Amino acid sequence: MANTLFNLALLIIFHFCMPTFSMKLTTILTDQTALLALKDHVIHDPENVLATNWSVSTPVCNWIGVSCGSKHRRVTALNLTGLGLVGTLPPHLGNLSFLSLLSITDNSFHGRLPVQLSELRRLKVINLGNNSLSGEIPSWLGSLIELRSLSLYQNNFNDVIPISLGCLPKLEILDLHENQISGSIPSSVFNITSLQAIILTNNMLSGSIPSVPRDLLSLQHIHFTFNNLTAHIPKDMFDHLPNLIGLHLSFNLLSGRIPTSLCKCKELQILSLSANYLEGSLPVEIGNLSMLQVFYIGQNNFEGEIPDQIMNLTLLNEFDVANNNLTGAIPREIGKLKNLELLNLAVNNIVGPIPPSLFNISSLSIISLSSNQLSGHLPSNLGLLFPNLEELYLGENHFDGPFPMSIPNASQLTILDLSKNYISGSIPENLGNLRNLKKLNLAVNNLTSPGISFLSSLTNCKGLQVLAFDNNPLISGELPGLVGNLSSSLQNFYASGCSIRGSIPSEIGNLSRLITIGLANNKLTGSIPASIGGLEVLQSLSLEKNKLEGSIPSELCHLNNLAYLDLTSNNLSGPIPACLGNLLSLRNLVLASNMFSSSIPSTFTRLTDLLVLNLSTNSLRGPLPIDIGKWLSNNQFSSDIPTGVADLKDLTQFSLSNNRLTGFIPESFGDMLSLEFLDLSTNNLSGVIPKSLQKLSYLRYFNVSFNRLQGEIPKGGSFGNYSIESFKGNGALCGAPQLHLPSCKSKPLNNFKAGTKLIISVALPIASTLLVAVIIFIILRSKKRDAKLPNQEDVLPLGSCKRISYHELVEKL
Ligand SMILES: *[C@@H]1O[C@H](CO)[C@@H](O)[C@H](O)[C@H]1NC(C)=O
Ligand SMILES: *[C@@H]1O[C@H](CO)[C@@H](O)[C@H](O)[C@H]1NC(C)=O
Ligand SMILES: *[C@@H]1O[C@H](CO)[C@@H](O)[C@H](O)[C@H]1NC(C)=O
Ligand SMILES: *[C@@H]1O[C@H](CO)[C@@H](O)[C@H](O)[C@H]1NC(C)=O
Ligand SMILES: *[C@@H]1O[C@H](CO)[C@@H](O)[C@H](O)[C@H]1NC(C)=O
Ligand SMILES: *[C@@H]1O[C@H](CO)[C@@H](O)[C@H](O)[C@H]1NC(C)=O
Ligand SMILES: *[C@@H]1O[C@H](CO)[C@@H](O)[C@H](O)[C@H]1NC(C)=O
Ligand SMILES: *[C@@H]1O[C@H](CO)[C@@H](O)[C@H](O)[C@H]1NC(C)=O
Ligand SMILES: *[C@@H]1O[C@H](CO)[C@@H](O)[C@H](O)[C@H]1NC(C)=O
Ligand SMILES: *[C@@H]1O[C@H](CO)[C@@H](O)[C@H](O)[C@H]1NC(C)=O
Ligand SMILES: *[C@@H]1O[C@H](CO)[C@@H](O)[C@H](O)[C@H]1NC(C)=O
Ligand SMILES: *[C@@H]1O[C@H](CO)[C@@H](O)[C@H](O)[C@H]1NC(C)=O
Repeated sequence: MANTLFNLALLIIFHFCMPTFSMKLTTILTDQTALLALKDHVIHDPENVLATNWSVSTPVCNWIGVSCGSKHRRVTALNLTGLGLVGTLPPHLGNLSFLSLLSITDNSFHGRLPVQLSELRRLKVINLGNNSLSGEIPSWLGSLIELRSLSLYQNNFNDVIPISLGCLPKLEILDLHENQISGSIPSSVFNITSLQAIILTNNMLSGSIPSVPRDLLSLQHIHFTFNNLTAHIPKDMFDHLPNLIGLHLSFNLLSGRIPTSLCKCKELQILSLSANYLEGSLPVEIGNLSMLQVFYIGQNNFEGEIPDQIMNLTLLNEFDVANNNLTGAIPREIGKLKNLELLNLAVNNIVGPIPPSLFNISSLSIISLSSNQLSGHLPSNLGLLFPNLEELYLGENHFDGPFPMSIPNASQLTILDLSKNYISGSIPENLGNLRNLKKLNLAVNNLTSPGISFLSSLTNCKGLQVLAFDNNPLISGELPGLVGNLSSSLQNFYASGCSIRGSIPSEIGNLSRLITIGLANNKLTGSIPASIGGLEVLQSLSLEKNKLEGSIPSELCHLNNLAYLDLTSNNLSGPIPACLGNLLSLRNLVLASNMFSSSIPSTFTRLTDLLVLNLSTNSLRGPLPIDIGKWLSNNQFSSDIPTGVADLKDLTQFSLSNNRLTGFIPESFGDMLSLEFLDLSTNNLSGVIPKSLQKLSYLRYFNVSFNRLQGEIPKGGSFGNYSIESFKGNGALCGAPQLHLPSCKSKPLNNFKAGTKLIISVALPIASTLLVAVIIFIILRSKKRDAKLPNQEDVLPLGSCKRISYHELVEKL
């Protein structure tokens, strides 16, 4: 009776104080039932731990991962970390009434959290990190008032952070990183005075950072990186966080300035604000953060000078202010940062020489000063000053003077970028001492290397991936065959604009990982080595502006990944291999200004991903094969409606100027809706300009000058924007009063095209048959007596070209 009364009393108490709490009489058998239910809900147990160990014949308290209280022998902890279990969490877990620790980290549990877990009033630690749990974060977690640690990281939880979490009076660690949590951060979380770390990295949180209403003396770590937080950092945020050690707000959408109150966080070691929209100058008060080790504010809109006070932060280990708009010089006192390992000032407007004291920071391993306006000579002993130097980026500055000959002594160097400066003198012959070198960029300087001799030692750099020395016009000589002995990891080889003579060594075909070859703008002779065709992953081949001769080796057709092929301005000849049409990945195909003959291979109609096709200034013959309507229907195996028009929507530049092309401009050009540049000038094209071209609303450049076109120039679309330059040298174009061309008295013939086509295809290629053609034309014309041709006055252009076109001739007959 007394017992019942007691229970009743308890019930009443719990009913009023904690409405969701219901008392249950449970025993170790209940615990066993609950755990067996869990075992049942595990559908995959790769190490057979539960299958073999969780046996009813042994006491629950001896099971792997299970701990029991020493007095009451009830389950107090369930720790199944990293067993690779796949399954769901059964509601029965809510019967483990004495549980204070639940950890299933690093498994593959999925599904939602059963609401029965809310019964586990004694829970202090919930660690469900690195599973596949989903659904919203339940608000009943806020009633587990004993919770110290709540870790739900690396799951698929979505929806918002429940406000109720702010009611957990003893919570120390809240870790929800890498989920899909949205909404804003409830201000209640900064109401938990026991909080030590709040980790919300990598979610979809938006809204502003809540202000901190009271002293949070325990809070040491705030991680809000990789979210969509907006607005200013609250001005008073730092008034109440005297023990903050790490503030991680990078990769959000924060704006405004860094609050000067930040200097009240005297213990701060890590300040990470990169990749936001923060602005203003860097507060000098940062110089008070004497414990600071990591300072990341890159990729913001900060301006002004780097405050000298920052150079007081002698514990600084990483200093990254890249991608801002900082001005002024590098502080002279930077040498005080004796512990600096990373210095990144890249992409700012910093001027002046590198202060000598910087060369005193022997701890540096990564130095990036790229893309500033730094000037002066680099010290000749540069390579001896930083024994741990791994990456050195000095590109895009105004450095001049000789190449620091000690660089090969910096034996840890993996990346060296001196590109886009005014560095002169010879490249050291022993750069190959840098055995760990992965990327070497010396492009756009004034360096010399007679006979390109520096290449030979680089064959020692077995991990070299990028080698760029292009646009150093004083490097000259022949490319030695030993390029084939360069690292088999080499992906990018840039040697354009280096006055290189001789032929391309066929050994280049040994570099089987090459993705880019840049040898443009040299003095290369001979033919394109067939061995290049063996470079299976090659994506870009730039050989333009050389003196290469011979034909395109058909082996190039094996380059299935080739996206960019530029052979402009060489002396290449012969037919364009039809098999180039097999390179479906081609985006830019530029063969202009060579001596290619033959017609355009019809296989080119397969190249539906082309952005740029330029075959201008060659000796191509024959009618335009690019009948796009056909091209499309070939692809689509159908139909009257060219549903595949979209396939060509990407072609933006198309040039066939300066050839000997005949025939019409295909109607279907009007379907190449992305076209911005269309140059068909200086050919023998005839017929009218198709009205369909009016649809090309992006067409900024249009040139059909010096052909044999006639009839009315379309008026719509972009046609109002073109000048007479686009049309001159055609005998018989009319319309377009703003071009001072004669108006078209009447519409051109409907059947005009058919007539002309016949003439052109029969007659034009061979001058001696001109007479025949004329006769045929006259016959045709007389048959279509009703159709009216533009009369002679209309036909004579006012433009500068006085060439008498074939059509004028016909007209005059
Ligand atoms: C289960 O594992 C525990 C701890 O490794 C061990 O002491 C116990 O003997 C095992 N029980 C069975 C039935 O294998
Ligand atoms: C849980 O078990 C794992 C692996 O056995 C162990 O590393 C970890 O410390 C345990 N956690 C707790 C809180 O006991
Ligand atoms: C334990 O929990 C489950 C599901 O929540 C319930 O069906 C069962 O009756 C509970 N009690 C015992 C003693 O297992
Ligand atoms: C997550 O857990 C899996 C095992 O399920 C493990 O292989 C992986 O390393 C864990 N990931 C992290 C980041 O700890
Ligand atoms: C913070 O806690 C106080 C009392 O401790 C309470 O009055 C206040 O409403 C709470 N604020 C929030 C935002 O939860
Ligand atoms: C941030 O917002 C943008 C635009 O609203 C969205 O595209 C992006 O996916 C969001 N990123 C995150 C991490 O939520
Ligand atoms: C913080 O730095 C400023 C400027 O450097 C200085 O004037 C001030 O005395 C410092 N405040 C504290 C509390 O150290
Ligand atoms: C901090 O730097 C300023 C300016 O460089 C200097 O005047 C001041 O003495 C330094 N304070 C400390 C504590 O080093
Ligand atoms: C950088 O600052 C200069 C002058 O301080 C200003 O003219 C320029 O527009 C700024 N650039 C950017 C990208 O904000
Ligand atoms: C470099 O450090 C040495 C020794 O600490 C010091 O004597 C010298 O003045 C420093 N040089 C510069 C330019 O700061
Ligand atoms: C720098 O490298 C050169 C060539 O390897 C070597 O002769 C010289 O001793 C090195 N200097 C120092 C100071 O290590
Ligand atoms: C490159 O060096 C040559 C010879 O040393 C010199 O004549 C030329 O002016 C330099 N060019 C540049 C851009 O510095």
